[in-house]
Amino acid sequence: MIFETHAHYDDEKFDEDRAELLSSMQENGIGRIINVSANLESLENTRKLMEAYPFIYGAFGLHPDEVGDLNEDVMARMRELCRMEKAVAVGEIGLDYYWDKENHEKQEYWFRRQIALAREEKLPMIIHSREAAADTLRVMKEEKSEEIGGVIHCFSYSVEMAEEYLKMGFYLGIGGVLTFKNAKKLKEVAAIAPLSQIVLETDCPYMAPEPNRGRRNSSLNLPYVAEALAQIKGITAEEVIAVTEENAKRLLFRA
Ligand code: NI
Repeated sequence: MIFETHAHYDDEKFDEDRAELLSSMQENGIGRIINVSANLESLENTRKLMEAYPFIYGAFGLHPDEVGDLNEDVMARMRELCRMEKAVAVGEIGLDYYWDKENHEKQEYWFRRQIALAREEKLPMIIHSREAAADTLRVMKEEKSEEIGGVIHCFSYSVEMAEEYLKMGFYLGIGGVLTFKNAKKLKEVAAIAPLSQIVLETDCPYMAPEPNRGRRNSSLNLPYVAEALAQIKGITAEEVIAVTEENAKRLLFRA
């Protein structure tokens, strides 16, 4: 079954029909879901989802746009959450120079602190990096992130940058963008990356694939991403689903 490695079901865009939508996942081939926290509120909301649904697991961390809310008390709470049975990753963490909500020094400081949290709690990381390619790679190398591992979520950089992360043993998170006509760069990346280092993700409610581009996204759209990846790899969508599920289990369950 499809392993969804990056969703935000605590987002208010799901307030209307969250329970109904989540209860339809399994019958539609979505096996497991990682709900990824991003802001302060979503830490506890991710915990609640993880506790309420057997197939939902949690990632705990603060997005670079949200690190203004980070302090030692929040770090201590994040550590407690990371120790819960169904906590599988630290994330999403990283650098974002596109929205640039927090200054770069502050983003980098809290990125390093959260990398240290992942190392100490022996959890993989879910990395968010937007328009910050060089600094993200520099920080990750300085922090010896290859010893920790994880996913570069919504991968948006060049083939050369992909090769750096693949060499470090990281997985690339690939979602709806792969189905866009103008996604030439990501299609090149998907072609060179070994299938054994790719995981499927939505980033829902954002990034819906074709033919639903622009609408609210959900994990139910992942078959379109699997199909697009299958075409690039010259294999079936079933193979893509099976291999990426095994990849996600190996990375997140350390199985
Ligand atoms: Ni996200």
